[in-house]
Amino acid sequence: LAPKPLAGKKLVITAGPTQEAIDPVRYISNHSSGKMGYAIAAAAQQLGCRVELVSGPCNLPSPYGVNRHSVVSAQQMLDTSLSLVNNADIFIGCAAVADYRAADQAQHKIKKSQATMTIELTRNPDVLASVAALDKRPFTVGFAAETQDIEKYALDKMQRKNLDMIAANNVALTGQGFGADQNALQVFWPQGKQTLELADKTALATKLMLLIAEHINKK
Ligand code: C5P
Repeated sequence: LAPKPLAGKKLVITAGPTQEAIDPVRYISNHSSGKMGYAIAAAAQQLGCRVELVSGPCNLPSPYGVNRHSVVSAQQMLDTSLSLVNNADIFIGCAAVADYRAADQAQHKIKKSQATMTIELTRNPDVLASVAALDKRPFTVGFAAETQDIEKYALDKMQRKNLDMIAANNVALTGQGFGADQNALQVFWPQGKQTLELADKTALATKLMLLIAEHINKK
């Protein structure tokens, strides 16, 4: 039998995009496929974790043995995450949460009339930072999608959001990151860093979870 280095640990992980309604038929969203988050959820389950997957809308099957909680908006992702994070050992924010939502949701479909129109946007809550700010917080891991100065921005984000670890990827490179089946990660924690070379998201997810397993006990 394979060793289960994370046996008995509880993981809460966000994945996928969020959708922010503008009116009953339209929304603001992004191109996140959810693949990385689902791969991490599956890998963590294989390594022995009890996994609560808080997922925005995406077309992926629920990984074996994982409890999936489907949400739509950033606010729902926050509420669901906070309701699950009690007693969690690890929280991973892998979702591409929409930064803004429509300030007002129209009750009925907005009709086209004028040549231009303006939609006022309101900043969404930060799910990851909210979990990291809890008194009894789990080992909290964030993601950073960057196009340049990866280390600088990742370290800044880790500090600003009070994270235990951050996994950064370069979304400017083709064939990895958003929508792709492969990814490469530069992982940082307050005392060190490690590069996880380009690999299938499944293999990469296992490596990331093993790295987290090494660190949670040091916390
Ligand atoms: O600030 P930025 O969006 O670049 O941070 C990315 C990290 O923060 C990811 O781990 C993402 O899941 C998380 N995040 C979040 N809620 C937001 C924005 C980002 O949980 N509203």
